[in-house]
Order: sequence, then C-alpha cells, then structure tokens
Amino acid sequence: MPDIKNLSPLEKVKVVSDGLRGTIAESLQDELTGAIREDDQALIKFHGMYQQDDRDRREERAEKKLERLFSFMIRLRLPGGFLTADQWIALHEIAGENTTGIIKITTRQTVQLHGMLKSKIKPTIKEFHLAKLDSIATCGDINRNVTCSSYPTELSVHDEISSYADKISTFLKPKTRAYYEIWLDEEKILDKKTEEDPLYLDAYLPRKFKIGIGIPPNNDADVFINDLGLIAIIENNKLLGFNFAVGGGLAATHGNPQTYARLGTVIGFVEAGEKTFKAIYEVLTTQRDFGNREDRKQARLKYTVDRMGVDKFKEEVEKRTGFPFEETKPFTFSERVDYYGWRQNPSGNWDYTLFIENGRVLDEGELKLKSALLEAAQTGKVSFRFTANQNLIITEVKPKDKKAIHKILEKFNIIEQTGNVSAIRKNSMACVALPTCPLALAESQRYLPSLITKIELLLANHDLENENIITRMTGCPNGCGRSPAAEIGFIGTALEKYNLHLGGDHEGYRLNRIYKESLGEVEILSELDGLFADFKKERKKNESFGDFTHRTKLNT
Ligand code: HEM
Ligand code: SF4
Repeated sequence: MPDIKNLSPLEKVKVVSDGLRGTIAESLQDELTGAIREDDQALIKFHGMYQQDDRDRREERAEKKLERLFSFMIRLRLPGGFLTADQWIALHEIAGENTTGIIKITTRQTVQLHGMLKSKIKPTIKEFHLAKLDSIATCGDINRNVTCSSYPTELSVHDEISSYADKISTFLKPKTRAYYEIWLDEEKILDKKTEEDPLYLDAYLPRKFKIGIGIPPNNDADVFINDLGLIAIIENNKLLGFNFAVGGGLAATHGNPQTYARLGTVIGFVEAGEKTFKAIYEVLTTQRDFGNREDRKQARLKYTVDRMGVDKFKEEVEKRTGFPFEETKPFTFSERVDYYGWRQNPSGNWDYTLFIENGRVLDEGELKLKSALLEAAQTGKVSFRFTANQNLIITEVKPKDKKAIHKILEKFNIIEQTGNVSAIRKNSMACVALPTCPLALAESQRYLPSLITKIELLLANHDLENENIITRMTGCPNGCGRSPAAEIGFIGTALEKYNLHLGGDHEGYRLNRIYKESLGEVEILSELDGLFADFKKERKKNESFGDFTHRTKLNT
C-alpha cells in the first residue's frame, strides 16, 4: 500500500467524495459560472461526463473578459453498442434539444453528445432515464463501457456473447446511489450499508478500466487494446468460455519513455458462466490493490502487469479466484473490419452497416444521416448497433421489411455514399480532438477527411486504391482513436504536425512504431508517396501495407 502522503491528489478526491457525490449538487446551483468546482470535475467523470470548453473561442472570450465557454460532454453506457428504435428516437430528440445536435459515435461503441450547458445536464439525464439509458461509469477510474464484436458469427452465440457485455457492465457498476440522487432527484437512502462496495471500496480503481469482447475471426472491436480483453471461444456453435488478455492500453505521453502503448497478453482460458465473472472480478481487485496510486501516468493495468510480471499477476488473480486459468484455447483473428452494406444474419434477418465518417451523425449537404436514421427508427422495424469503428449497423431487419428500409436509406443518399466511399476512407478513423478535447495538440476529426482525400489520389497513382489500409489519427498520443493500433497512425504533436507511425498489422495483433516525427502535410504526403511506390514494387504476394512496412521500413 502506498504511503498516504504520496497518493496522487485525485485519490483523495475519490475517498472523501461521499460515494462520488462531492459538492456536485452545489456546483450545479452556482449560477455565476458555467463550470463546476474543480474536484467535482473529477467526480462527474464517474457519472459519464467531462467538463470541456470551446477552444476555438478562448481568445475572443478572454479579450472580452468573459470566462471560457464551458459545456459538458455526456457519454452513454451502451454495452455492446445496442439501441432499440425507441431509444434512437429519444437520443435524436435529446441531442437536438440539449446539445449540439450531432450524435457522435465513439470508438468504444457508444455515443457522446457535446456542448451541453450546465443547466441542461439534469434534464438530459432525466430524459435518458425515461428511455432506459444512462451514463453511469462511462468515464473515470472505474470499469467503463464494455465493448463487443458487432457482427454475428452464429447468431444465437452472438446474442449470448453480447449479453455478456451487458451482464459484465451491470456486474461492475458502482454501488453508490449518487447518480440517482443527484441527477434524477431520487431520495437519499440513509442506510449507508446499501452502498457498501466490496469491489471499488471508497477509492475506486487507480485509473480507467476497459473491457472488450472479441469474437474470432473478426477483430473489429480491437480486443487487445483493452485492459481486459475476452476472446470468445466457440465450438460447434456453443460458447465454451473466454481466453483472457490482460494489460492492453494505448495511451502514452510524448517524451516520457516510461509510458507506452501495449497490447494485452493472453494468460489463459476460463469457462463461460460463473467462473468467467469471478475471474473478471478478481482481475479488477488485483489491479485495485496493486495498481499505482501515486503516479497516474503509471496507473493503468498494463503498468501493473509489467511491474509485477505476467506470471506473478496471473498467480495473484488465481489466488483470489481459487481456481487456475486453463491453458489458452487456440483462436485466430483473420480480419479487423466493418462489413459495409447489406449482410444477412444466420437468423435470416438483415443488417445494413453504414459508413459514418468519424462517427458524426448529422445532416450535411446531400447526405442526411440524421434524418435517415430517424425515419428508419420511426418504422419501428429496426434496431441499432454501433460498431467499435465509429460506424452504425441498422440491425434486426426482417426480410419482408428490407425493401422499405433500403428505400429510406436510398432517399437520403446513404446507399450511394456507403457504396462509393474508398477503401482507405472506410478503414479510417479519427478521435474528437479540437475544439473540445482539452488534451488535443493537433486537429484530428476536423482534419483527417481532407487528408484522406489527398491520400486517395496518391493511392490511385500507384494503382493501390483497393487496398484496405487501416489509417487512424489522434490529436495527441492518448490514442482515443486507436492510432497506435493502425497500419498508418498519425499522432498529433503540435498544431498541423503529426508523428507518422507505421507497421501495425491488419488484424490487431501488432502495434505500429514511430517512423518519422512531427511532419506537416506536405511531408506526410511525400513520405506516403514514396512508401506506396515501394509497396507496389516490393510487396510479397498478398502482403498488407502494415506487414510490408514492418518488414522493410522499421529495421526490425
Ligand atoms: C491518458 C489517456 C487518455 C485520456 C486522458 C483521454 C481523454 C479523453 C478525452 C478528454 C476525451 C473527450 C474528447 C472530446 O469529446 O472532446 C476522450 C474521448 C475518447 N476517448 Fe480517450 N483518453 C485517453 C485514452 C484513451 C484510449 C487509449 C482510448 C481507446 C483506445 C480512449 C477512448 C476514447 C473514446 C472512445 C473517446 C470518444 C471519442 C472518440 O470516439 O473519438 N481514450 N478521451
Ligand atoms: S487522443 Fe488525445 S486529442 Fe484525441 S480525444 Fe483523446 S485525449 Fe483528445
């Protein structure tokens, strides 16, 4: 246990927060500012929100001696990314009334709404509650939204596996009633015993904790980037259990070699059911008790695993569960993609995966995504599933309804757009970054689309336009858009400057590495031009761009 004197300041905020209440209620009532108190800013993360401000307007506001333009981002808890049609309609309305109106699909299969003023937080959460939606524990030092591969292999098994996402999320929710009291005006329960939390105690976890479920052969949800990745093992259409991969996480800090991206290490297999839940629970308690609480930059599970050593970590979890991990079961991921367009489920129903550039659902020009999705939801004949690549699947469409849904998608130009998007764009993704993210060093979602247009031209010049190269950009090395796990990764270092990373594989087993530092656009394009030329000339048969650059450009 660390010396209490050395604990990071946030540790104290958590412990004295009275079950994540702090002074949030008072902060909300303070009409003199659009912000909330500093300690409460840390606590509302556990309720699924970040305080942000419009960085584009900082200067102008400062000149006028106004405080920054504060607003809040709210992120929903949607295990496995599933929404009913009614929930979509509610989301559409809430986004329009209380936030910027843009529904932002995230890289962890959920949605965020931006630009919510302080006075709108309570009404927003209340309306979500009426739609049976909440934002509990989607940020903060706690288990966050649980992701799951979006695509059915055998449908009954997919339903069973994605129900694990739901059950794990519920199982690991904090016991405090603070969310219900503060945001939903539920009565305070005075008997504190009901809030005792044997998992999180009073200091929660040392850092955020992410769980994702992968279903081979498609690693669409990037299972190895999670603190805990669960790889579903299926035999004869039956779920046997999960291989456990521990210690994934992508964030790093420029210039700090003690920080690094890491993929999860597979430590063994656990059978489905009770044992799986027990093992998950004890991975969390081990991180709770052994994670670094002094230095937040060393607090994620990946550092705990590396400090203890994988074997010791595994031993500790086994000591706590009372049973050993079984030998890892064989599995293979052979792709990491979203299956765009129509695709029939093993059940006979249809799915349509829409390409949504950087996950931003809005009506823009000819492409009326928001209107299309509202109209599809209003038929009551569809459900929705977000993918971990910021896209959306219109799902559970019965064969008799497919034509009607197709017509709606056609009317709003979706079919044409999804059909015509280039391979490189379909495999691209960017984090939010500017103007809202306080940590952004460079643009990301506002810049990547135009850079991709230029890269498309380069690829066409080299006859490589059909290559499915996974390209991702983030505005800083935290990696929210999973840039370290891309074949081409752009990581912001300063305004208009990016480190160029290469050599990640196509399936998500290998991270990329830095190739060139702090490039501007002209240099990026010139580097890529040369790389594409070499790739065209020297690639082996069926070699992916990531494998090629790993083999030839990184001095391995
Ligand atoms: C120290 C590490 C990290 C910090 C401090 C951090 C912080 C943030 C912040 C402030 C935002 C809000 C941006 C906005 O909406 O304006 C954000 C978004 C997000 N982060 Fe992170 N992040 C970190 C690492 C990661 C990593 C490694 C992942 C996953 C691989 C991740 C997943 C996300 C997701 C899914 C979003 C939503 C936006 C999107 O889809 O682009 N974060 N993060
Ligand atoms: S990667 Fe960096 S810039 Fe992008 S959203 Fe995350 S913290 Fe912000």
